[in-house]
Amino acid sequence: MKTSFFYANEESELQVYLASKNYQQIVCIADAHTNGFCMPIVKKIFPFLQTTTQIIIPEGEQNKNISTCIYVWHEMEKMQLEKNTLLICVGGGTLSDLAGFVASTYKRGIDTMLIPTTLLSMVDACIGGKTAIDFSGNKNNIGTYHLPIACYLNPIFLHTLPIRILQSGIGEMMKHALLCSTDRWHTYRTLKIEDFYSIEKIRESLVFKNNIVEQDLHDLSLRQSLNFAHSIAHAIESYSLQGSTPLYHGEAVLLGIRHELILSHIIFQLPQFIISDYEQWLQQCFPELHFNYNLADIQSFLQQDKKNRDGYRMSLLKEIGVCETQVRVSEAQLQESFKLL
Ligand code: GLY
Repeated sequence: MKTSFFYANEESELQVYLASKNYQQIVCIADAHTNGFCMPIVKKIFPFLQTTTQIIIPEGEQNKNISTCIYVWHEMEKMQLEKNTLLICVGGGTLSDLAGFVASTYKRGIDTMLIPTTLLSMVDACIGGKTAIDFSGNKNNIGTYHLPIACYLNPIFLHTLPIRILQSGIGEMMKHALLCSTDRWHTYRTLKIEDFYSIEKIRESLVFKNNIVEQDLHDLSLRQSLNFAHSIAHAIESYSLQGSTPLYHGEAVLLGIRHELILSHIIFQLPQFIISDYEQWLQQCFPELHFNYNLADIQSFLQQDKKNRDGYRMSLLKEIGVCETQVRVSEAQLQESFKLL
């Protein structure tokens, strides 16, 4: 099964597609934020959803847990939802992770459609069927693979976002550009912040990830290239959450790209000018993004990373468009990277 993607201006095609599925029931799930800001837009675009039953859950990563799942399962039971139900999720990645998990387990799996409302979820979380909740203090450690049958992409929802959350989605788009090709990278490194919010750029980034996911849904080989920048990013993000200036995931990705480009330089001799070009772009688009960290600050988080059971393993760039996964990074190489930061 594949996900069908529909973009702004393809609303009637989406409606025809949904009609062909003959769902017995359609239910929407949103969080407190997206219920207030995005559901009215969704209902205006798709009037047939105006009378649809809704499940509303509290927003935020702190609610991405089993208690919220139990609440949603109860609501679904009360509504007597049958197997032939479509759950439409209106929100960002935190919500779609949970909603996808709940849907994948209810009656052994009901269909989902995602309407991502953040830039990050448009170019990353809505693609590839990973669902997850946090459990026992660990992020995303309970989950399933459950591809949505459809996704609807419309940048109109980006107007509902606080600026830092909006901009942070650009990190994954830059990561995709570096993983894609020299041409793509040369285009993206000249883009200004607003350029990233166009449906063309969102679509380009989404299609890149989706091509990878279609070749390796279960993350056994090629999909691991999408972890580029993320070993360091996760460690910085976790460290930042302990302090007074927590980073958003996408901000940590922007910093993780810089750091893992340096590691790619140390290990694979990735040319230095690529790091300088990236730094120049970062400085232009994100002049305020500074975060101080040293090896001691992030070491314990790197060690907790499930990929790092036998030393540090990362996905790094041999050249632009060529990523090697499971690269062993020694303590000495990691230390050296901090001297070049
Ligand atoms: N965000 C990486 C993946 O979906 O595999």
